[in-house]
Amino acid sequence: MSKFRPAVDVLATASARAPESPQEVPDGPAVATSSLCKRFGQIDAVKDVSLAVPRGVTFGLLGPNASGKTTLLRLLAGVLKPDSGHVWVLGVSPGLDLRAHVGYMPQAAGIWDLMTAWENMRCFAGIQGVASKAQMEEALELVGLKDQMHRLVKHLSIGMQRRASLACALVHRPHVLLLDEPTVGVDPVLKVHFWEHFRQLNAEGVTIVLSTHAMDEAERCHRLAIMREGCLLAQGSPHELKELTGASTLESAFLRLVGEGIELY
Ligand SMILES: Nc1ncnc2c1ncn2[C@@H]1O[C@H](COP(=O)(O)OP(=O)(O)OP(=O)(O)O)[C@@H](O)[C@H]1O
Ligand SMILES: [Mg+2]
Repeated sequence: MSKFRPAVDVLATASARAPESPQEVPDGPAVATSSLCKRFGQIDAVKDVSLAVPRGVTFGLLGPNASGKTTLLRLLAGVLKPDSGHVWVLGVSPGLDLRAHVGYMPQAAGIWDLMTAWENMRCFAGIQGVASKAQMEEALELVGLKDQMHRLVKHLSIGMQRRASLACALVHRPHVLLLDEPTVGVDPVLKVHFWEHFRQLNAEGVTIVLSTHAMDEAERCHRLAIMREGCLLAQGSPHELKELTGASTLESAFLRLVGEGIELY
């Protein structure tokens, strides 16, 4: 008998249940989906995904390229409409009414590059209903861009552009932050600073859903969802996923779950 457990075993034990109706649950999950599906032509980008994200945690989406992480985040942000299934953010369907409560940092250019970081910030703050100059300065300070804020975005380095995009997502102090690979291109020192801030936001009750390919970041998430080909393979804390697969590291657990056949036992 093979000493490798087939992926299907893991699929069978994956726990991915979402509440029936989060709207009716006081203090229910900050974010939930039920049988969520999104297709692009022949591609099932998100397939039958049900998950529940408790309030005040950092929830990580892990998966190979094209596994559906960005599509799922876009569905949660209300940028895309599902083909079927449901999304609830703070108990309601994503839409304009939520803009004051949700911050979304897309994976690809989410800010205007012919404007300065400060001008971008003003636009986002206006859309989200924040007028406070102090809040805008605070967000730029957090991402270490205050001294660069009057430069055109297109003249900033890629890492700086990502930092400006993050500042725009959190300027209005949302209850839910949806961040698509927020630390790509960000230097290690600032990355540590970001994670300290994420922790602080969690302590204040803010829920963060982020995607990442970095295992050190995944290890810092309270809970993780592993995706492959649009499907949710497993959900759990980093510790639970290691236990589920018998792996000693999260990277091994991840590789086991996505079926790379890494020897774990
Ligand atoms: N607007 C679109 N039109 C057509 N296909 C799309 C569109 N958006 C995503 N897809 C497809 O859906 C699948 C999932 O893509 P998605 O961007 O969600 O993956 P991902 O997990 O975020 O990948 P990565 O790690 O590379 O960012 C891919 O096959 C992709 O080509
Ligand atoms: Mg992506």
